[in-house]
Amino acid sequence: MRILITGVCGFVGSTLAEFLLERIEGIRVAGIDNLMRPGAETNRARLQRMGVQFIHADLRAASDLAALPPADWVIDAAANPSAQAGLGAAGSSRRLFEHNLAALGNVLEFCKQHRAGLLLLSSSRVYSIAALAAIPLQARDQAFGLDLSEPLPCGLSPCGIGASFSTAHPVSLYGATKLASEVMALEYGSAFGFPVWITRCGVLAGAGQFGTPDQGIFAFWVNAHSRRRPLRYIGFNGKGYQTRDAFHPRDLAALLIAQMNATRADGQRVYTAGGGSDNVMSLAQLTTWCDERFGRHAPGIELQPRPYDIPWIAMDNRDAGRDFDWSVKTALPAILEEIATHAENHPDWLDVSGA
Ligand SMILES: NC(=O)c1ccc[n+]([C@@H]2O[C@H](COP(=O)([O-])OP(=O)(O)OC[C@H]3O[C@@H](n4cnc5c(N)ncnc54)[C@H](O)[C@@H]3O)[C@@H](O)[C@H]2O)c1
Repeated sequence: MRILITGVCGFVGSTLAEFLLERIEGIRVAGIDNLMRPGAETNRARLQRMGVQFIHADLRAASDLAALPPADWVIDAAANPSAQAGLGAAGSSRRLFEHNLAALGNVLEFCKQHRAGLLLLSSSRVYSIAALAAIPLQARDQAFGLDLSEPLPCGLSPCGIGASFSTAHPVSLYGATKLASEVMALEYGSAFGFPVWITRCGVLAGAGQFGTPDQGIFAFWVNAHSRRRPLRYIGFNGKGYQTRDAFHPRDLAALLIAQMNATRADGQRVYTAGGGSDNVMSLAQLTTWCDERFGRHAPGIELQPRPYDIPWIAMDNRDAGRDFDWSVKTALPAILEEIATHAENHPDWLDVSGA
């Protein structure tokens, strides 16, 4: 099996490459990256040592893709993955559009040309900001959680947000590039006869993630806390109750393998996957975890929320579990411990990440 991973030097792409090489006999992995993410360069030599054919190229350039080796599957893990992307300091909207959406057009043409299947990594950010903000919540144990005494909207259950939750705009500029990518990928797949699986991922986290305040929040928080760098609870009354689920890209890799092995040609193509309701944590709870691990370090408060900030997200894994016999194996405390150990071994990690 020949797999092409876009964004192979990113956190998710590089972890997937490593896992797939370990798990699939006879697999050949090629990967493309333009190394635009600060820190991505640090993965290049390691990947090459593992046997990944690395191609330094940019998905925005069709001619760069023309030089790529053929593949049976493409895992699309290249993007600017920040929910703040396209706004002000987080980079221009044009740049976001080019990297996250226009570049996908070239990936789809590659899949069409080689009849390669596509595994698209989408995001919980395809969901409606208004619908996410209206989820009934209550605060307990320093975290937001679902208020189950209130009726839940379509697509939301106590297990989390499923594929049928509202995607009505606005969904953030980042979310819109992902939602549009989903539509284009499904259309190309059905028009040109190649399989497409879409996974709307919750927060991904683990050792080696590049962390900044607007992307890779678990890695950023643990690294910043351990180095006594400034931390801030932004919005939501400055209490840090905003809550996310998180899962490890190794668990995502197991789902992608099951999708590549699936023979079904019709039915559901869009899935949600994340840490799920068992693996959620608020920033305040994360601070408590870090205080116990590294000693006390109190975040500051910034009451003004950022655009697109959302109080609670957790993904419903039931469809992926039912159709791919898949479940999350790495619990959130194990992920945090992995990040903490990595932070201790890489004291300069926030500088590497450009935080
Ligand atoms: N990290 C998360 O919590 C999360 C959650 C949901 C979905 N996702 C999706 O998973 C994928 C991977 O995210 P990540 O956390 O590994 O991000 P990352 O920034 O660590 O990796 C992305 C990689 O893509 C590369 N890249 C970007 N544009 C490129 C282009 N035009 N040509 C070639 N390479 C390019 C970057 O240099 C980087 O190495 C993204 O599609 C993201 O939207 C991530």
